[in-house]
Amino acid sequence: MSSQSRERNWSPGGLGFYLSRILSLLLLLVTSTPSPKACLVSNSVNGSSINCHPPAEPPRHLPADTVYLVVEFYNLTQLPADTLQGASSLQELHLSNNRLANLSAEFLLPVPRLEVLDLTHNALSRLPPGLFQASSALHTLVLKDNHLEILKASWLSGLKALAFLDLSGNCLRTLPPGLLANLTALQTLDLSENLLEVLPSDLLRGPVQLERLHLDSNRLKVLGDDLLAPQPGLRYLFLQKNSLVAVAAGAFQGLRELDMLDLSDNILTSVPTGLWAALGQPARAMKEGFDISGNPWVCDRNLDDLYRWLLANNDTMFSRKDTLCAGPEALRGRALLEGGWLPVR
Ligand SMILES: *[C@@H]1O[C@H](CO)[C@@H](O)[C@H](O)[C@H]1NC(C)=O
Ligand SMILES: *[C@@H]1O[C@H](CO)[C@@H](O)[C@H](O)[C@H]1NC(C)=O
Ligand SMILES: *[C@@H]1O[C@H](CO)[C@@H](O)[C@H](O)[C@H]1NC(C)=O
Ligand SMILES: *[C@@H]1O[C@H](CO)[C@@H](O)[C@H](O)[C@H]1NC(C)=O
Ligand SMILES: *[C@@H]1O[C@H](CO)[C@@H](O)[C@H](O)[C@H]1NC(C)=O
Repeated sequence: MSSQSRERNWSPGGLGFYLSRILSLLLLLVTSTPSPKACLVSNSVNGSSINCHPPAEPPRHLPADTVYLVVEFYNLTQLPADTLQGASSLQELHLSNNRLANLSAEFLLPVPRLEVLDLTHNALSRLPPGLFQASSALHTLVLKDNHLEILKASWLSGLKALAFLDLSGNCLRTLPPGLLANLTALQTLDLSENLLEVLPSDLLRGPVQLERLHLDSNRLKVLGDDLLAPQPGLRYLFLQKNSLVAVAAGAFQGLRELDMLDLSDNILTSVPTGLWAALGQPARAMKEGFDISGNPWVCDRNLDDLYRWLLANNDTMFSRKDTLCAGPEALRGRALLEGGWLPVR
């Protein structure tokens, strides 16, 4: 076999290797390497870092001490199967802005020390089961802006250390039960900008201490009692831009640490009494703020409980001017915080 035939075969999907003017300028500023066709390589005590952007050609052979590899903006549709062979020290791999539609199940086997994998803006609609079987050190996985319509628990199997999982900007409609059951170290889960209508009630059983949950820009209709119950340490909760018409009275009950809540731009007309008991004053400061604007609130006695809570917490309330009564007719357009439709003692 000639060494030629074993050379890596990076396959660009686009027509050329041209970048926008802005990006080229940026690269020039950042790299200023002698040869514009070479990747930027820097060495430190920790190993080699390799930074490739077009028109540089991605490397045929990775130095054995490579700890950091960037191959971005090439429109690659495939990676050679042995891409990472011999780079067993690799800690970060950035492959954003290509057109990868699939990966081989063996892709990550050579890099058991990988900590960060960024696949933002590719064309992945599935992952091979077992992809992460050797990835017990991976703590950050970014699959933002791909074409995922479904997920399977087996695809994420092996991610013992995963703390940050970004699945935003895909086409997810449902999630399977038990998806995160083994992801005990998860701290941030981003499912925003998908097509989710319902979530399995056991979704958050598994992670031991989730801190940030992004569910914004989906199609969620109801927030039930069970979803958040396993995560008393949640600090940031993003639910804006959904289709919520109902939030169950106990939905926030277990939350003891919440610092931020965004419920804006939903279809809430009212919320049940007791919903707010665990949040804000006097229980907790809700110090990063909350937003309930952009909902068609019906300002009658049913909002009594919410109104009192708003008064006690108005110092961290966002978008007051857009938090308005949509009804009854006589109060339409009135700011919720003005109250006036009920006696407050
Ligand atoms: C990748 O595709 C984009 C969009 O079609 C194009 O603007 C860009 O020049 C392509 N880049 C390369 C390196 O082919
Ligand atoms: C080398 O790795 C150590 C530990 O991970 C890190 O603190 C240090 O900043 C790294 N040095 C360089 C030059 O990257
Ligand atoms: C990815 O898909 C292409 C086209 O379906 C196929 O030719 C190729 O073998 C696949 N690669 C892997 C690693 O599964
Ligand atoms: C979760 O962990 C259990 C126990 O180690 C294992 O039997 C199961 O296959 C794992 N599930 C997934 C989806 O990885
Ligand atoms: C807002 O909060 C302050 C103190 O936190 C309180 O004195 C005031 O009455 C509240 N109400 C309004 C409508 O601002």
